[in-house]
Amino acid sequence: MTDLSGRRAVVTGGASGIGEACARAFAAAGARVVIADLNGEVAERVAAELGGEAWQVDLADTAALADLELEADILVNNAGIQHVRPIEEFEPERFSLILRLMLESPFLLIRAALPGMYARGFGRVINISSVHGIRASPFKSAYVSAKHGLEGLSKVTALEGGPHGVTSNCINPGYVRTPLVEKQVADQARVHGIPESEVLPKVMLTESSIKRLVEPAEVASLALWLAGPDAGMVTGASYTMDGGWSAR
Ligand SMILES: NC(=O)c1ccc[n+]([C@@H]2O[C@H](COP(=O)([O-])OP(=O)(O)OC[C@H]3O[C@@H](n4cnc5c(N)ncnc54)[C@H](O)[C@@H]3O)[C@@H](O)[C@H]2O)c1
Repeated sequence: MTDLSGRRAVVTGGASGIGEACARAFAAAGARVVIADLNGEVAERVAAELGGEAWQVDLADTAALADLELEADILVNNAGIQHVRPIEEFEPERFSLILRLMLESPFLLIRAALPGMYARGFGRVINISSVHGIRASPFKSAYVSAKHGLEGLSKVTALEGGPHGVTSNCINPGYVRTPLVEKQVADQARVHGIPESEVLPKVMLTESSIKRLVEPAEVASLALWLAGPDAGMVTGASYTMDGGWSAR
């Protein structure tokens, strides 16, 4: 059993899906969790249930994060969105939004948390990347770009943080059963010209050797291990949980 008593864990996008599962796992291990999310109402509800705090924040508003100081022993950069369009139809403003939310804000939160982590000689940065951090798919230019960037940011954080007791790692899931995936089924059907019922077998699970979605709790169990003492020598790594997708 990983014991996170006395640790403060900030989980972005903690009101839903993978983030919520991470918050639940960390709270069950004794951490005090901070649910940072655009959806303040749900963040409040989840935080109250877990005895933690809610932080209502728009993480795409990067200007507001520039001078932030963040008290965190564990930081999970998880908040994210998807947008499925061919490059020639991809709205530039949407590309920029995704880069701000999924690459610039993790940088700003890490930047805000490191001084405290360095002072305490302990820190765990866990970046929820994706199989799209190491592989590409058509029609996801912004998402794939942001996740590839996050992989680089995570490694630089690992190199700078190591001497101060701070680790930084990525988790790279395949498709996970969350609202983010449910919301993209219609878009995938449209761009691929197939019925929605065929999106799972013909688009999402084609590359995976195991033909099912990942469960949020499975991702959270890996995040919990990365946050705990047994992973002290694990840094700069990227852990796939993709049913064999990236084995190809
Ligand atoms: N679901 C998957 O298949 C999958 C696979 C690999 C990686 N991921 C990654 O996991 C992370 C979480 O995805 P999920 O599937 O749990 O999604 P989700 O939609 O269930 O949850 C995302 C959360 O982020 C919050 N959020 C969105 N925009 C925000 C903003 N501007 N500021 C603050 N919070 C904001 C939402 O309110 C929501 O609570 C994302 O980074 C995603 O890229 C997901």
